[in-house]
Amino acid sequence: MGIITKLFGNSSKKETETMTNVKLAVIYYSMGGTNYQLSKWAEEGAKEAGAEVKVLKVPELAPQSAIEGNPAWKAHVDATKDVPEVTLNDLEWADAIIFSVPTRFGNMPSQMKQFLDTTGGLWFNGKLVNKVVSAMTSAQNPHGGQEATILALYTTMYHWGAIVAAPGYTDPVTFAAGGNPYGTSVTVDQDGKMVENVEAAVKHQAKRTVNVAELVKKGNQ
Ligand SMILES: Cc1cc2nc3c(=O)[nH]c(=O)nc-3n(C[C@H](O)[C@H](O)[C@H](O)COP(=O)(O)O)c2cc1C
Repeated sequence: MGIITKLFGNSSKKETETMTNVKLAVIYYSMGGTNYQLSKWAEEGAKEAGAEVKVLKVPELAPQSAIEGNPAWKAHVDATKDVPEVTLNDLEWADAIIFSVPTRFGNMPSQMKQFLDTTGGLWFNGKLVNKVVSAMTSAQNPHGGQEATILALYTTMYHWGAIVAAPGYTDPVTFAAGGNPYGTSVTVDQDGKMVENVEAAVKHQAKRTVNVAELVKKGNQ
C-alpha cells in the first residue's frame, strides 16, 4: 500500500458502493464549455454514488450581440440550448448543490452572482440552511484566481447556512488535478482545452458532496 493510500484510504471505492436518496443540483455558467464539461463529470460521479441529479445553467446576462460576435461562445450556447435554466424551486428541491463557474478577474461571473442575489427570499425563510455545497472553477492561468473564485462563492454559502463539503485532500486524485483542496479547478489554454486531467477529481468531489449530504439527511431524520 502506497503512502498516499495509507494516509487517505480508498475512499472512492467505498463511495461508489453507497446508494443514496440525495437530490443534487449541479449549477453552472460557461462561455466556452469548460464548466459545462466539469458539470457533466460531476453528474456522472454523483449518479455513480446513487444521487438523483439535475444539471442546470444560470440565465445569461450578456447581450445577444456579444454572443453572436464570438464563434466559440455562440457554438457553446447553441450546443447547450436544451439544458434547463436553474430556478429557485431547484434550490429548494436540492439536498446538495455543486457550482461550477469560470474565473472572472479572480471572482465568479456576474451571471452566477446575479442568480445568487435572487435567493434572498429563500434565505430569509431559512430554506437554504444545511444545503450541502461545493464548487469548481476554471481559469486561463494556474495562479489566475482559481482558489479566490471558489472561496468567493463559499462566502455566500456561509450566509446561507450551507455546509461546505470541500474536497480537501480526502483522495489522492486531488493531487493529480493540481491539488486544489477548496474545490476542483482546471487551467484552460488559449484554445480552450483543459491542461490538467481533472475528471477523476471532479467525480470524487461529486461523490463526496453526495456522501456528506446523505449524512446530513440521515442526521435530520
Ligand atoms: C472577462 C473575463 C475575465 C477573466 N478573468 C480571468 C482571471 O482573472 N484569471 C484567469 O486566469 N482567467 C481569466 N479569464 C479566463 C476564463 O477564466 C476562462 O476563459 C474560463 O475559465 C473558461 O471557462 P468556460 O469554458 O467554462 O467559459 C477571464 C475571462 C474573461 C472573459
